[in-house]
Amino acid sequence: MLAFALLSSVVLLCRIASAKLTNYTLDDASPSVQYSNMPILRCSPSTCPESWTSQLFNGTSTLTQSSIVVPFTGTELYVFLIVSDGPCIIEIDGDTVGEFNNSPGNGSIQLAYRNTSIAAGTHRLMILPAHPETIIEFDYIIYANNVKRKAPIGAIVGGVCGAVALFAAVIVGIFLLRRREVRRKIFVRGLPLSDDDKSSINIKMIPRVAKK
Ligand SMILES: *[C@@H]1O[C@H](CO)[C@@H](O)[C@H](O)[C@H]1NC(C)=O
Ligand SMILES: *[C@@H]1O[C@H](CO)[C@@H](O)[C@H](O)[C@H]1NC(C)=O
Ligand SMILES: *[C@@H]1O[C@H](CO)[C@@H](O)[C@H](O)[C@H]1NC(C)=O
Ligand SMILES: *[C@@H]1O[C@H](CO)[C@@H](O)[C@H](O)[C@H]1NC(C)=O
Repeated sequence: MLAFALLSSVVLLCRIASAKLTNYTLDDASPSVQYSNMPILRCSPSTCPESWTSQLFNGTSTLTQSSIVVPFTGTELYVFLIVSDGPCIIEIDGDTVGEFNNSPGNGSIQLAYRNTSIAAGTHRLMILPAHPETIIEFDYIIYANNVKRKAPIGAIVGGVCGAVALFAAVIVGIFLLRRREVRRKIFVRGLPLSDDDKSSINIKMIPRVAKK
């Protein structure tokens, strides 16, 4: 039983090792970010103070009073933005999953929304003003996706795992054969045996009993 548990945990560990959660960052200026209306301002080192843009991801942010749509593929999502004059609403695939409002005058971009349990697949993030006055200053999102490792790492991991699993299987096989053999011999001597795994403990105790 223990041996089988060991073998299956080797297989499980190898399966985990061959997939890896990878973070991807999408900037506000990325072509895949869609703004439903003309933004109020696109902040960059040429349009905003350097003291501000130096705090932004890749030096840019977008200020808008209308909705922002970002398609992404993954299981985790982190949204970085700041709002003024009202909160914003976060939707995933059309469902409201959060609302964000920072305290007024909070002078830095914040993690406005975090979800680490999104169903695998392609999703549509929508950030929209909760009030008509709300101004969203959008900086970036991070999304994490489980990617399968590519060769050669994938091949190496696969090969090593296969070899370890095979080795473990052989050990389990030898162990089971030996135990059956020992049990058969004992049974021939007329000793009673229980049919569970603890029988191996009984086997070790027999020589001591015989010495008495
Ligand atoms: C991805 O980014 C988030 C937010 O910065 C961080 O908390 C998380 O640990 C990162 N995950 C990986 C796998 O790097
Ligand atoms: C950062 O901005 C430069 C242009 O200033 C652009 O070419 C580059 O793709 C941007 N990087 C990211 C990760 O968005
Ligand atoms: C802004 O909010 C963040 C997170 O709530 C906090 O860590 C930070 O100290 C705040 N900054 C100011 C200037 O209030
Ligand atoms: C995370 O996203 C899923 C959609 O895949 C949603 O059903 C769930 O409510 C979200 N969880 C949080 C804490 O926002």
